[in-house]
Amino acid sequence: MQTPRAQAGRGPVVVMSLTQEQKESLIHLAKDVRRNAYAPYSKYPVGAALQTRNGRVYTGVNVENAAYPAGICAERSAVFKAVSEGEREFAAIAVVTHNGGSPCGSCRQVLAEFGLDTVVLIADEQGRLIKETTVGELLPDAFQPKHLQQG
Ligand code: THU
Repeated sequence: MQTPRAQAGRGPVVVMSLTQEQKESLIHLAKDVRRNAYAPYSKYPVGAALQTRNGRVYTGVNVENAAYPAGICAERSAVFKAVSEGEREFAAIAVVTHNGGSPCGSCRQVLAEFGLDTVVLIADEQGRLIKETTVGELLPDAFQPKHLQQG
């Protein structure tokens, strides 16, 4: 459900509140795409599905590499795909792992770049919701673009 809201000095902002159905659908997409994860080293496949404020969804998986640090997490794959397509406003991200693991610090930082209100749905491989939180809750006192603004 999208509710337009006026904001002083800027265009209307779309405030996103996700329905139960939308949450379930996002988790379902993350669960499905997890099959594409390339995780031969950790054997810990991760699937992510990122919903923009205008309703589009970008999926991502972890893509590992023989040179270990060159690998990338599922959440960042999804964010980078979305931003590459011109998206910058995100409503929610679903993350599916075998056991409902939580997004890593680097992924929290990358998500925080685009807003602290993004809902984070953490689910297990059955698609069961383990935790619903926000980027702001996962990364208190986040370093953000505003900290780089000159006085
Ligand atoms: N991984 C993710 O994709 N997302 C996270 O937030 C946690 C970790 C991946 C990275 C690596 O491919 C595997 O899970 C084990 O760390």
